[in-house]
Amino acid sequence: MIVAPSILSADFCNLGDDIRMVNESAAGMFHIDVMDGVFVPNISFGFPVIKAISRLAEKPLDVHLMIVDPQRYISQVRDCGAEIMNVHQEACVHLHRTVEAIRAAGMKPAVTLNPATPVETLRDIIADLHMVLLMSVDPGFGGQKFIESTIGKIGRLRNLIAETGSAALIEVDGGITIENAPKVAAAGADIVVAGNTVFSAANPKETIQLLSEAGV
Ligand code: DX5
Ligand code: ZN
Repeated sequence: MIVAPSILSADFCNLGDDIRMVNESAAGMFHIDVMDGVFVPNISFGFPVIKAISRLAEKPLDVHLMIVDPQRYISQVRDCGAEIMNVHQEACVHLHRTVEAIRAAGMKPAVTLNPATPVETLRDIIADLHMVLLMSVDPGFGGQKFIESTIGKIGRLRNLIAETGSAALIEVDGGITIENAPKVAAAGADIVVAGNTVFSAANPKETIQLLSEAGV
């Protein structure tokens, strides 16, 4: 499995050290959570911080926008060096237009679903997506508990991808631990996001390695 450490749980006083640790680890990409205090009840960080991260990062940036009207910021996200731009289905009235605009800006489009949003809502757009991100917690905070019903949802998304001939990858975000990562992998996830589990570990690099081997 590809591991995407979530910078939200990094040490912001020593961000450079944490980015270098991820560079040297088995992680496949950086997961970067932007929160606006409107779409979710929390505020994280914005473009100047992402730009600084991109200067040191040697792996792709997966930028997860937990904000209203994410289409307003497509060029700014691109200019921050994002490879993947992740927008919430619940935040986009014209999701198709937003996905096409992300691609036209040179990024890979990904769509995120909150825990209560069914995968079926993506049937008519999934062929156009690079990735689908399933939230396994209600977005807004790191360190929350994994919602068990996500396991069945991963399977339903796998089926939808097969039925539609889509090449979309499945990413799962929230409450991922060494203990639950194997069943997330077995259910069909390609990528796991991990914040608290990585950055509160005594040995973050080894933890990333263990997560990457989950389900192998
Ligand atoms: C939650 C964010 C997650 C978060 C995951 O709203 O989207 O990416 O950082 O953190 P953990 O792994 O601690 O649940
Ligand atoms: Zn996230």
